[in-house]
Amino acid sequence: MSTPPLASGPQGADALRSLLPVVLDALDTGTRARGGPLPAGGPEAVAARLRDAIGDVLPDDGEPDSLAALVHALAAGSADPADPLCAAHLHCPPLAVATAADLAVSALNPSLDSWDQAPAASELETLVTGAIARLAGLTDALVTTGGTEANQLALLLAREAHGGSVRLVCGANAHHSLTRAAWLLGLPQPVIVPTPTGRLDPATLTAALPDGPTLVAATAGTTDAGLIDPLPDIAALCRDRGARLHIDAAYGGGLLFSDRHRNKLTGLDAAHTVTLDLHKLGWQPVAAGLLAVRDPADLRALHQHADYLNADDDTDAGLPDLLGRSLRTTRRPDVLKIAVTLKTLGRHGLGALVDQVCQRARELAALITDHPHLELHSPPTISTVLFRPTHATDKTVAEIRRRLLTDGRAVLGRARLDGRLWLKATLLNPHTSPHDLAALLKTLEGHQEAHTKGHPRT
Ligand SMILES: Cc1ncc(COP(=O)(O)O)c(C=O)c1O
Repeated sequence: MSTPPLASGPQGADALRSLLPVVLDALDTGTRARGGPLPAGGPEAVAARLRDAIGDVLPDDGEPDSLAALVHALAAGSADPADPLCAAHLHCPPLAVATAADLAVSALNPSLDSWDQAPAASELETLVTGAIARLAGLTDALVTTGGTEANQLALLLAREAHGGSVRLVCGANAHHSLTRAAWLLGLPQPVIVPTPTGRLDPATLTAALPDGPTLVAATAGTTDAGLIDPLPDIAALCRDRGARLHIDAAYGGGLLFSDRHRNKLTGLDAAHTVTLDLHKLGWQPVAAGLLAVRDPADLRALHQHADYLNADDDTDAGLPDLLGRSLRTTRRPDVLKIAVTLKTLGRHGLGALVDQVCQRARELAALITDHPHLELHSPPTISTVLFRPTHATDKTVAEIRRRLLTDGRAVLGRARLDGRLWLKATLLNPHTSPHDLAALLKTLEGHQEAHTKGHPRT
């Protein structure tokens, strides 16, 4: 085999040009072969098909058709968030323009741990993070791999500002990555405030606040229900009690783009740190998280010195020192796809997508309310709709969800709220139509019937 071509350099574009049709055709044939929101047959069948497609992972001699074969196999075996019936998680269908931009990042392969590996990308990141931080009413932002890393950084910055005895106080509705970060960082056992309504109640929070340094974490867009904690009240309470405030807006942060919905985030700018995540309500390919901060001085805690990356004399001579912008070292410029998306669509374009999915969620809620055999949990705040078949047991709800998955018909999530198990539809696809919503409920009806009769529909 001759030396394989590179993705960048003078021949890079030509090499990619000849491979891209292979990838695109395989995406197409794989998606058609799947023929639905996820592969049918359940985990064993899907794994067996993938094993058959890949064969020997490390053959002695290379197999030139592997690009086509593996991309086809991955597409055929994917849960596709671009299918309107794939609506379980905060797992968005990425915009084509963002994905195309990401290809350029893979080709150029800049690394944001030193200026000499990413001269333009480092400036782009500075510009974009500044703009996004200002959109949230804060001053600076770091790019992360998602909400989990952003939440971890928020706790780390709180620990560095207030010492290792700082205690996390959050609702039971908060994302698990917060308490996990407290564990990881060796912080005291967090105080978990019960949230029977799905939102953090300020009075209950007040009563739960411990003495000593405290980090309150509120959520703007809960994972299970898309609910937004009462941010202004919580912010006022934190101010009065001298507590630091983090707001996890991994989901709800996307509302900032929408003139219609951004008022739901009033109070966000009072936080010391805010988690944002554009691979949820931002239509980015993974990864596209951010941690916005109010006081840029907080970021000094992340400063790191490594002579090969940010030698003092290089920094004195004017080379930007990037190492302290992340806990990672080698770091891909996820900021390019974000920048391309912001500029291509503009705030109004992104806001229109947000408005669209929120509107679809309200329409789905209305269909469920009018349905004789379905019960709606509550009107949606963002784009999550919780519902369940009327009179079904929790066991039946769970089985219906699994059967839909196994048959490859629909991907719905599950959430336990008010002591009951609910089906969850998280609408993040701006192309989903009212007709698709009706189709989703029809698919569910078919499976409910099959469940009642005790046999699966195939
Ligand atoms: C509220 C919230 N915060 C944080 C996260 C974690 O984000 P990621 O999966 O991008 O790490 C999630 C994920 O769903 C979330 O819903």
